[in-house]
Amino acid sequence: MSTDAADTAAATPKAAAPLTHVRVLPHPELCPEGKVFEAKAGRKLVDAMLDNGIEIEHACEKVGACATCHVHVREGGQFLAAADEEEEDQLDDAWGLDAQSRLSCCVRVKGPELVIELPRFTRNHARER
Ligand code: FES
Repeated sequence: MSTDAADTAAATPKAAAPLTHVRVLPHPELCPEGKVFEAKAGRKLVDAMLDNGIEIEHACEKVGACATCHVHVREGGQFLAAADEEEEDQLDDAWGLDAQSRLSCCVRVKGPELVIELPRFTRNHARER
């Protein structure tokens, strides 16, 4: 009987991942007006932003090895899985690091709402200065 229930759930197209309301605060280059969108839980935050026209850098192709996708999670961070040691190590090189810093390629969207602030500069830009 549990098989029937599983079959029914699998056959129901509405049984999709829950959505998280994502609000990205204005950034002068990447999204001057700010941006609000819904993202599927479990999606990489960097991909959700790229899907929605925010051209955040991702120099290492989203494998957590460059810190150019650094963001500040201003609200909703309590719903996210904690950063692992490798993410923490990369964050040490991020421009404008603070207690709410995360690598958006390491963050899986989760929770009712996330508020994201994009740093003014990326690690690459900071190096050029
Ligand atoms: S894209 Fe390189 S650390 Fe996220």
